[in-house]
Amino acid sequence: MNMKKYIFLASILAGLITGCSPEIHTIWLDEMDLSQMETGWGSVKINQSVGGHPLTINGVKYERGLGTHAIYKYMVDLDHHGRRFTAKVGVDAESAKQASVEFFLLGDQKILWQSGIMKVTDSAKVIDQDIRGIDKLALYISDGGDGINYDHADWIDAKFEYVREAPEPVAPYVSEPDILTPPVSDAPRINGPAVTGATPGRPFLFRVPVTGKKPLVIVVNELPDGLEFNSETHVISGIAPDKGVYPIEIIAENDSGRDAKTLTLKTGEGLALTPPLGWNSWNCWGLSVDQEKVEAAADAMVKSGLADHGWTHINIDDGWEAPERTASGEIHPNEKFPDMKSVAGYCHNYGLKLGIYSSPGPKTCGGYLASYKHELQDAQTWAKWGIDYLKYDWCSYGGIAPDHSLPELKKPYELMRRCLDQVNRDIVYSLCQYGMGAVYEWGAGVGGNLWRTTGDINDSWNSMAGIGFGQAKASPYAGPGHWNDPDMLVVGQVGWGPSLHASKLTPDEQYTHISLWSLLAAPLLIGCDMTQLDDFTLNLLTNDEVLAVDQDPKGEQAVPVRQEPGVEIWARTLNDGSKAVGLFYTGESSPVKAFVWGKETPGKKMTVSWEELGINGKQTVRDLWRQKDLGEYDRSFSTHVPYHGVVLIKIAPVSE
Ligand code: GLA
Repeated sequence: MNMKKYIFLASILAGLITGCSPEIHTIWLDEMDLSQMETGWGSVKINQSVGGHPLTINGVKYERGLGTHAIYKYMVDLDHHGRRFTAKVGVDAESAKQASVEFFLLGDQKILWQSGIMKVTDSAKVIDQDIRGIDKLALYISDGGDGINYDHADWIDAKFEYVREAPEPVAPYVSEPDILTPPVSDAPRINGPAVTGATPGRPFLFRVPVTGKKPLVIVVNELPDGLEFNSETHVISGIAPDKGVYPIEIIAENDSGRDAKTLTLKTGEGLALTPPLGWNSWNCWGLSVDQEKVEAAADAMVKSGLADHGWTHINIDDGWEAPERTASGEIHPNEKFPDMKSVAGYCHNYGLKLGIYSSPGPKTCGGYLASYKHELQDAQTWAKWGIDYLKYDWCSYGGIAPDHSLPELKKPYELMRRCLDQVNRDIVYSLCQYGMGAVYEWGAGVGGNLWRTTGDINDSWNSMAGIGFGQAKASPYAGPGHWNDPDMLVVGQVGWGPSLHASKLTPDEQYTHISLWSLLAAPLLIGCDMTQLDDFTLNLLTNDEVLAVDQDPKGEQAVPVRQEPGVEIWARTLNDGSKAVGLFYTGESSPVKAFVWGKETPGKKMTVSWEELGINGKQTVRDLWRQKDLGEYDRSFSTHVPYHGVVLIKIAPVSE
């Protein structure tokens, strides 16, 4: 008999002998450790809705309770000391009209009580549940099965009655930060895209990304006229040649070996022929970005080795702009950026590229000065500074084009396209308007190289997975030079302001994030403080076989092969005809399975068949994170997928 059971029986026996029943205590849900509760958005609030208003259910206000957001999860160890759990539950009035949730009380892997689907128009329901004899008790709020994410849900007057020992919170399951990417080998390896674009006659810059033991000798052959290679800095620069396709041969050698690769330069076929790889200041620094932080990010991009894996862009987001234009109407940086031109030069010396941010409206989302009525002048200013990338964010343009008709949605983006075409500089054009008007259908048509398909991401599972697994509709519209952008990465130290915290995504969720974004052929813009890259984050971002999926020159975005509760299988065909496939276990296929009840590592056995992938015959399966062949399979492949995690594989026909 285990110790707990022994104490439990002994205490019952003691009660029987002494003839007195133990005293019943009460602890309120709002007195428990809120940090152990998982909530779908924001943070759990005491005596307020999750949005910070008085707790209100169907017109009735309540004094005491917790405001949460579905999906909500909380488990306590009662250790058989529980007596009753009582509460009122319902959808908070501040939720969207279509909100729906379901409340559950679970005990030792069984449903003890469930509310049924509740809507914002339902009055609070009462729970009065006997919890005697229960070891582990879990409180769960589902999203009502509709996947809609505006579900604010309240626990009113919720309390546990218990004897002797108060319920103990059980910390949510967090996977181990296992590093899967094998160490970089000593032998040279040429990384990065196999194809790059430029406009004839405009300045060209490309850093050749190579890993391997130093010293490395890199030779570049068949460079078109007008370009030269600097063997110290590994940077190709000059003026892009006439319209054409130029195969450039790159050879890297050191004591441990040799690698060769053809980089195809295509001129006159647009930019961003593979999705941009880089860093953006927003998800870490928010509006507190400054010149020092941007230059530190560029330094770290090179020193950490990320640049040797193909990471190139250093993008300044909102917060760089001075409040007024100069007398001649020029936009200029505020005191946080003493010299923008020198920041560009700083990046270019490394072969990195500098990005900037503005809005077609009078003000940016952060309330800074933007480009309305100064579009051409701003494009010229950015070109003069040496800017290589523009994120153009709708924000206050809503005040100018309030009806959101399709022509209105397109207009400011077409205008800036015309302005960018007039300057003598290649500037990657990133549209940001959160997906309005199904932008993926017309983003390429207005000359965008990429366009945000969603609202802002944050470092929670619901946000990341909700965005990532919701990209199917946009898939057909991605391709070389024009990409869907499901927003920036939320791994590493993030924070949207001066203070940072480690991403709240668990290690397995971070593997899901990078794998899914790579399958989606998404722009990968690191959103963390580059000077604080821990080993786990660095390894997550430097797996060349995973990055090669993202950068595959065919540019086909993955589509879902199977989407079921708890299961997502996404696949894309790569340039060499092989398939990249992600098997994801998204958990929560039932309220009971949303929790870890014992010591088991939660996961799921999953199988993908050749039939559903549209392939047949014997195939080699390779695990891309571990960079390891798993064997040959005839009809299907089965594997164990961790909770909220992924197995990312490449499937190729066995060569005869
Ligand atoms: C919007 C965008 C973000 C960021 C901020 C800056 O919210 O979606 O990515 O650029 O504006 O204010």
